[in-house]
This record gives sequence, structure tokens and C-alpha cells, in this order.
Amino acid sequence: MSRGNSSQVGRAASCVSPEGNGGWVLGVAVSMKKIGFIGAGHIGSTLARLAIDAGYEVLLSNRRGPASLSQLVAELGPAASAVTPSEAATADLVVVTVPLHAIDQLPEAELVGKTVIDTNNYYPDRDGRIPELDSGESTTSEMLQRRLPGSRIVKAFSNVVYLHLRQLPRPANDPQRSTLPMAGDDAEAKALVAGFADSVGFDVLDVGGLHEGWRFENGRPAYCLPYAADPEAMRGSEPGSRPMEAKPAARGVIAALIERG
Ligand SMILES: NC(=O)c1ccc[n+]([C@@H]2O[C@H](COP(=O)([O-])OP(=O)(O)OC[C@H]3O[C@@H](n4cnc5c(N)ncnc54)[C@H](OP(=O)(O)O)[C@@H]3O)[C@@H](O)[C@H]2O)c1
Repeated sequence: MSRGNSSQVGRAASCVSPEGNGGWVLGVAVSMKKIGFIGAGHIGSTLARLAIDAGYEVLLSNRRGPASLSQLVAELGPAASAVTPSEAATADLVVVTVPLHAIDQLPEAELVGKTVIDTNNYYPDRDGRIPELDSGESTTSEMLQRRLPGSRIVKAFSNVVYLHLRQLPRPANDPQRSTLPMAGDDAEAKALVAGFADSVGFDVLDVGGLHEGWRFENGRPAYCLPYAADPEAMRGSEPGSRPMEAKPAARGVIAALIERG
């Protein structure tokens, strides 16, 4: 794959309905009610909270089993329930938000036909060295797509630190609304994800197919720093001590960083 040559970055999803779930997005009816989460850690629990605020029910699952999620479910209230990964996969839209090294353990059969949001990133210290990612031959989301061939993978919510994700939602047309990049090979799945993102307070920028997902992977200019009020303090900081204050990043800012690749 050539990563030096910039391909055309799409501008889809600019006409996303402000109605949120239950509305119409890019001409596609959105009737999502339940969002399933495979992974309920930093990103999973944060996005689940935003989804509940937007009126969805959430099905949360993790590796250790539903009993280990009782405190989180109690905090999130009656719209949340703890289930197994296979049960989470029955939702209208499923978020896979586990460490990359765990994607071999996902419930492949139950995820057939599903649109799956992929938040995963590659951290060699955590995930081990993966030659096809080191060489640039593949992106993390292409790897997930190969693990889940019957699902429609959309890479999104992967380039923003959970602390910032929590602070950044804004209503549609708010000048302080942030844009998140998204990549996927299926236009209908991307429209569904764009509608979900819209309903929880974000615009999206369609970067292209899953092969273009490297443009907002770990270490790229569009990765995490654009949403930090103090990017210098973010650089090199340990996850537990990352600066919490977020800064909105508009479409033009994210598009320019994506083009830089
Ligand atoms: N943290 C961030 O700000 C951030 C931002 C963007 C993207 N990401 C990416 O998003 C993914 C999740 O990150 P995170 O920070 O939320 O991770 P995390 O806090 O470590 O949470 C990981 C979650 O995945 C679950 N899990 C692990 N193996 C599983 C399996 N085999 N089946 C089902 N669930 C499993 C864990 O369950 P147990 O607790 O039971 O082990 C836990 O709920 C990672 O790839 C990360 O790189 C993170």
C-alpha cells in the first residue's frame, strides 16, 4: 500500500439529519434502538453513556462476564444491561472496542450481517508485533474485517481519547461541534454509523474504504491530539495521566490532518 499518495478524501455524511436516532440519514431510514458493546472499558463505557443520553438502550459485554459489569450498569441506569458478547451482537448496531489482540475471540457467527463500529488501535506493547500492520500492508480494520467476513466494519470513534470523547458532544449545527473520521467499505453501513455519531453529538468525515483507515491510526496527525486542549502535554504522557481538557476539532481541521496522513 502506498501511504505517501493522498487519495481523494470523501465528504459524505454532510447531510446527516439532526433528528438523531429515528430520523433519516443520507436517505437511509435509521430505526436503531439498541447498541451492543463488545468491550466495556474506557471507550465502551464512555460511548455507552453518550448513547444512553441520546435515547438508545445499550447492551454491554466484556471478557469476564455480565456479573463483572453490575456496577457500571447500575451507574448507567435502566437503559443499560449486562450481557454476553454473543447477546451484545444481537443489537441493531454493534461496537467492538476491545484490545486488538482480542479480536480473534469475537462471536463471528452472531455478528454476520451486522454493522460493526471498530474503535480498535494497534499498540505493539499491548498487542504484540503484527507484521502486516508494521509493514503497512493492512490496516487494523481490514484485519477485523477478515476476522468477521460476514459483518460490515466501519472504523470510527478510534482516534479520540475517551476523556475527550466524553466532553466533546454538541448539538447539530453547533459551531463547536467536533468531527470524527470514519472509514469503511460499505456505504450503507457508513450511513448508519454517521447517523449514530450524529445522534450522540458528532459530525463524521468519510475518509474512504477500510484500506484508508491508516490515516487516523496511532501516530498519525489526526490521532487523538487534535481534540486535546494541550497537545504538547498529551505527547508521551502515560494513559493514566493524560490531560483531560478537550478542544473541539471541526471538519476542516480534521480533513487537513487526514490529507497530511
Ligand atoms: N482508551 C482510549 O481513550 C481509546 C481511544 C480510542 C480507541 N481506543 C481503542 O479502543 C479499544 C478499547 O480501548 P479501551 O481503552 O476502552 O480498553 P480497556 O479500557 O482496556 O477495555 C477493554 C475492554 O475489552 C474487553 N475485552 C477484552 N477481551 C475481550 C474479549 N475477548 N471479549 C470481550 N471483551 C473483551 C475488556 O473486558 P474485561 O474488562 O473483562 O477484560 C474491557 O471491557 C482498544 O483497541 C484501544 O486501543 C482506546
